[in-house]
Amino acid sequence: MLELKQLTRVYDRDDIAPFMAVDNVDLSIMHGDFVSIIGRSGSGKSTMLNMIVGLLHPTSGKILINGTDLWSMNDKDMAKIRNLKIGYIPQGFSLLSNLTIMDNVRLPFCLAQREGNGIERAMNLLEEMRMQNLAEKYPAQLSGGEMRRVAIARALINNPEILIADEPTGDLDEETTKEVMKLFARVYCKGITILMVTHEYDITSYGNRVCTMSSGKLIENIAAR
Ligand SMILES: Nc1ncnc2c1ncn2[C@@H]1O[C@H](COP(=O)(O)OP(=O)(O)OP(=O)(O)O)[C@@H](O)[C@H]1O
Ligand SMILES: [Mg+2]
Repeated sequence: MLELKQLTRVYDRDDIAPFMAVDNVDLSIMHGDFVSIIGRSGSGKSTMLNMIVGLLHPTSGKILINGTDLWSMNDKDMAKIRNLKIGYIPQGFSLLSNLTIMDNVRLPFCLAQREGNGIERAMNLLEEMRMQNLAEKYPAQLSGGEMRRVAIARALINNPEILIADEPTGDLDEETTKEVMKLFARVYCKGITILMVTHEYDITSYGNRVCTMSSGKLIENIAAR
């Protein structure tokens, strides 16, 4: 369902020669895959994800989603794909601090201009994560683990085909990491494809494929399959 072909991103930096943050990456993800990508800080993981979710223009190469070239679409079609097919959990804190938890979760629903207000669906997701009592609170009133779970609920509001997560357990303690990963396992069981970036080798065991990113190059760790 998702194919990267020779995907490359070069950053122009004044001080030194242009820098290849993502270097000719090929990757093919099937429906029902749960792919983990590990790699050191600065190896190009977030840069790659930002291109896949349509936020950062590739320097060269292609991203095919169900066979359609993402970056050859017009803005409107691209936004539609992004809203309806992809659920994205960005790295770090990504909630809007002036919106309630309920409004944070249903924001992509409203942006996709779907019928209704998304309140019921958002409440169901919050209930599933045992956070219904937090619906009217604001992000600053939540713990780090709770905020991460809200970001997951927000990524799931439009029933995506693929969930793309950038270090979903970064900065979380062991217990909360387990809780978040159990949630991922449940999402995976429902048939949603997952692409996850992580620093922690332990949690790659939740998936079926592991790749390593190093200096912008991606290599599949076949032994782990
Ligand atoms: N806008 C930019 N301009 C120039 N260089 C950048 C830019 N964004 C990222 N980089 C560089 O590209 C490289 C890859 O960054 P990226 O954020 O993709 O790494 P990462 O693997 O996600 O790291 P981390 O694990 O710390 O999140 C880094 O060396 C970074 O300094
Ligand atoms: Mg990153």
